[in-house]
Amino acid sequence: MRLLVTGGAGFIGSNFIHLLLSERPDWHIVNLDKLTYAGNLENLRDVKDDERYRFVKGDICDEAAVAQAVGGCDAIVNFAAETHVDRSIMEPDAFLRTDILGTRVLLDAARQGKADTLLQVSTDEVYGSIAQGAADETFSLNASSPYAASKAGADMLCLSYWTTYSTPVVITRGVNNIGPYQYPEKVLPLFVTNALDDIPLPLYGDGMQVRDYTFVDDHCRGILLALEKGQPGEVYNIGAGNEMRNIEMARFLLADIGKPESLIQHVKDRPGHDRRYAVDSAKLRKLGWEPHYDAAEALRATIRWYADNRWWWEPLKSRDLYRDYYRRQYEQR
Ligand code: NAD
Ligand code: DAU
Repeated sequence: MRLLVTGGAGFIGSNFIHLLLSERPDWHIVNLDKLTYAGNLENLRDVKDDERYRFVKGDICDEAAVAQAVGGCDAIVNFAAETHVDRSIMEPDAFLRTDILGTRVLLDAARQGKADTLLQVSTDEVYGSIAQGAADETFSLNASSPYAASKAGADMLCLSYWTTYSTPVVITRGVNNIGPYQYPEKVLPLFVTNALDDIPLPLYGDGMQVRDYTFVDDHCRGILLALEKGQPGEVYNIGAGNEMRNIEMARFLLADIGKPESLIQHVKDRPGHDRRYAVDSAKLRKLGWEPHYDAAEALRATIRWYADNRWWWEPLKSRDLYRDYYRRQYEQR
């Protein structure tokens, strides 16, 4: 198997590449990544000289770059995206470009037979806020943020290619991932690294929003299973069911690190903030998927990694790029 992984220098993509190199030793991987602020080759420095792995810097919106990278590959797994909801509220443009138009370029590569399958890594955010119960794959799409709308647009485009051209696509919809190598703008790495340095934790609104904090390795194993056993034209939800309120998550991590709850600072809520996400993953479980980390185990493993790997996040948080974003996002809240 020769795989084109797009966005492999980001959080989930780099964890997926690590998983493949250890669990599928005869596979070869090409990683096409634009290296935006969220892309980081340090995530893959331990495998950079592995002969089964090759990095290519490029944009999924660039047809020529995609055509070159996909040459000889059997399948594409698309992680490349703009992914942070708060940034999509500030500046939606890049989200539409990469998440929708970039996916179109990959779909056309698959349609032209340059790869046998495209696995599109999508999100539970496309279902919107779920007041009760859990969304299965037939649930209607009800995106709240420009990020979620862009991902929903890409999902619809993928399904339209299957219906219209029989282009083999499989979609996964994952919940909130936590674990190593997550850019410290997302809540978990932000709160853990702030807590380690005695910086306040900016909790949006009342902090009663619910998220299913699933360990990234469990998500990656679900994506791999969907790639190997999923049916073309089908969607598979991936969530461990680790539901937790944000305020509970913040209290849990402060207790684990040994810091006071007074570090929690309630700040103005996110506009259009979805109250709760919850998916039904029975369809993937039927193919054999099961998560290995419950909420406490996922949180503890994540906290431990950031506590032990300051070399990774301290340079990111000290860049002007990060400080400017932090100021814009939090100063006026
Ligand atoms: P991330 O922001 O950490 O990484 C995104 C990667 O994509 C980066 O390496 C970036 O450089 C690259 N990229 C961005 N634009 C690109 C372009 N035009 N061409 C090529 N590369 C580009 O994201 P993540 O959290 O690892 O998410 C990966 C995928 O999983 C996304 O599609 C996201 O929507 C989806 N997802 C994420 C979560 C989560 O909790 N993080 C949950 C469900 C689904
Ligand atoms: O559900 C899957 C999605 O999870 C992915 O598709 C997205 O790419 C990923 O970013 C994530 O989206 P969220 O908006 O749920 O994640 P985020 O880490 O930004 O926020 C998680 C929760 O924490 C959410 O309820 C908002 C809250 N929050 C977030 C930040 C950044 C805060 O209270 N304070 C913060 O500073």
